Amino acid sequence: MKTLVVTGHPRKNSLTAQVVDRFSGTLRETGHEVELADLHAEGFDPVLREEDEPDWNDTRKVYSPAVVGEMRRVERNEATVLIFPIYWWSFPALLKGWIDRVWNHGWAYGDATYPHRRVWLLGIAGTDQAAYAKRGYDQAMKIQLQVGILDYCGVEEGRLEILYGSIEGADYVDQILADTVRLAKAF
Ligand SMILES: Cc1cc2nc3c(=O)[nH]c(=O)nc-3n(C[C@H](O)[C@H](O)[C@H](O)COP(=O)(O)O)c2cc1C
Repeated sequence: MKTLVVTGHPRKNSLTAQVVDRFSGTLRETGHEVELADLHAEGFDPVLREEDEPDWNDTRKVYSPAVVGEMRRVERNEATVLIFPIYWWSFPALLKGWIDRVWNHGWAYGDATYPHRRVWLLGIAGTDQAAYAKRGYDQAMKIQLQVGILDYCGVEEGRLEILYGSIEGADYVDQILADTVRLAKAF
């Protein structure tokens, strides 16, 4: 399947970048095609300005050239995977802004659905699963990201996977990378 991997991290040697490499490499080994959208390297502007505001009375509004370019990049693929560090129990602003601007009215919702049937979200968490479960952050993220965005935009094979413990030590990092390969093989 032609798959768009969308990511964004300020540091090239981040664990997020390693997960992107591992996931993309495994997808390619199993016969998928991968196109990388590295929003940080590309300098994507996450701020939604007036030209990209939805017009609730016009589902055919033409958005800014940057947003139309992003829409075309999605459309030439068949699936999307967002790989991101979890910041404040959610997307980093860069990826949230990509959703705000690109997953727009008339294209991803309104009288439309997101072009892909399969969208996976792989979030890399600093702390461990117990810390998430203690306050319900995992459930909160599932409702906000999977129900609130993927389901809302008609994605039929939406999935949120949280990879826990990036700052808890080497064993956790090894497990995150092993889980990345396992998930890519199941894609
Ligand atoms: C601004 C900021 C907010 C963060 N918020 C969270 C958080 O809410 N929960 C969490 O588990 N980790 C949090 N972290 C840790 C990141 O998730 C961590 O950087 C990530 O797991 C992966 O490591 P990497 O940055 O090397 O890719 C945060 C990090 C930063 C810089």
